[in-house]
Amino acid sequence: MKSTFNISAIAIALAFTISACGGNTQTVETSGETSIAETPVSPAATETTLTLEGNDQMQFDKTELRVPAGQTITLTLKHTGTMDKNVMGHNFVLLKPGTDLVAFGQKAASAVVEDYVPASESANVIAHTKLIGGGESVTIQFTVPEKGTYDYLCSFPGHYAIMKGKLIAE
Ligand code: CO
Repeated sequence: MKSTFNISAIAIALAFTISACGGNTQTVETSGETSIAETPVSPAATETTLTLEGNDQMQFDKTELRVPAGQTITLTLKHTGTMDKNVMGHNFVLLKPGTDLVAFGQKAASAVVEDYVPASESANVIAHTKLIGGGESVTIQFTVPEKGTYDYLCSFPGHYAIMKGKLIAE
């Protein structure tokens, strides 16, 4: 993955920098004791990448997502099944704190022409993807500014009872 590579590259670059300018640090252990390299603090990492999968069994593969508050989150929703979106459609809808997930799911279910994310509920939605079917994927970016626990769901009719989870911003 792109961001994983970038983080690794940064870590390697940082380690090199430390060893290059640190003089007597990072020396090879000869006493037989094992040294544990400290993990460098990630310098101003500003992007988090998540993947969430939905399948033909009406399931998300994760019921908990952890993200850093205030950072740009890149989320890819992937439908690993083969069924059409009119039958087994999936989306990702992240709700604002205090929004009743069941009430939202019920209202969303009737919003067919809006792909089940009704504009009338937009004040309760932090971010959402479009609706996808089997073999499709979609990527969105969003930010969760406040630390806390947020509900997410698939708002396709009937799915929210099972296809839901918590996004924890910390
Ligand atoms: Co669904």
